[in-house]
Amino acid sequence: MDIAVIGSNMVDLITYIDRMPKLGETLEAPRFSIGCGGKGANQAVAAAKLGSDVMMLTKVGDDLFAENTLKNFQRYGINTDYVVAVKGVSSGVAPIFVDKSSQNSILIIKGANNNLSIEDIEHAADAIKKCKLIILQLEIPLSVVYYAIDFGAKNNIPVILNPAPAVPNLDINYVCKCDFFMPNETELEILTGLPVSNLEEILVAANLLISKGLKNLIVTLGEKGAVWLDGKDIHHISPYRVNAIDTSGAGDAFIGCFAHYLVKTHDILKSLNMASAFSAYSVTGQGTQVSYPDKTQFDNFMSKL
Ligand code: RIB
Repeated sequence: MDIAVIGSNMVDLITYIDRMPKLGETLEAPRFSIGCGGKGANQAVAAAKLGSDVMMLTKVGDDLFAENTLKNFQRYGINTDYVVAVKGVSSGVAPIFVDKSSQNSILIIKGANNNLSIEDIEHAADAIKKCKLIILQLEIPLSVVYYAIDFGAKNNIPVILNPAPAVPNLDINYVCKCDFFMPNETELEILTGLPVSNLEEILVAANLLISKGLKNLIVTLGEKGAVWLDGKDIHHISPYRVNAIDTSGAGDAFIGCFAHYLVKTHDILKSLNMASAFSAYSVTGQGTQVSYPDKTQFDNFMSKL
């Protein structure tokens, strides 16, 4: 197995809007779609679509959505031995609003994702130990994220932590144990309490985190690409210019693709450049996972650049 994703799955309820309704207002929106999402699941699917062997450790609810989520993982060849249903709890759900400029706002109801536990990691320990990389996000209990970070460190498995959605009180000692810490600029702002309205400010905030002892900090910047700080150098990852339709799940596309190429090539810079292209492709289609290209589509896209 290449990659273990220990994280969330959600059902994305995506409404395409002209504008948000005001308080007390009822407003018609032009379009709606439903799809499989959740930051953990999205990252797993992105890597699997590119050809990685991925196992998913997650919890689904006691409802109609659960079976569909399971089938969706299986459709992409993701190992579901550790996808467990929780009785009497709803699946994770994410109402998403995408505006006319393709930007998204997301609410999450964690549901069964809140039930993922340290015992679940222990139960899957032998399988996780066979993986070359662990990916984590913050849509599951923080105690489980911390346990997984220690698990990776103890077993010499590199860990990517995507601190999304951001929590201001994330324990920096655990963050420093991760091999790759990958916030977007909004998450960087919440984590540091510093402004991030331009590249200069972003680098000040990023350097504050690096000064605490992080190994690799990668800040994803949407249409502006990404920056990678490793304590010595600052690398700028160029964006790929595309006609964006829906940016939902683009950050997850970036992380899943980065993970795939990192495991295959061990070349961080190359993996980041591929991730930038992959996430650019993803914003040209609607939805989250369904907008990610498979290996053939991605190779085709890259050959035309
Ligand atoms: O990052 C995008 C994802 O965030 C969506 O798929 C939604 O489910 C939320 O988890």
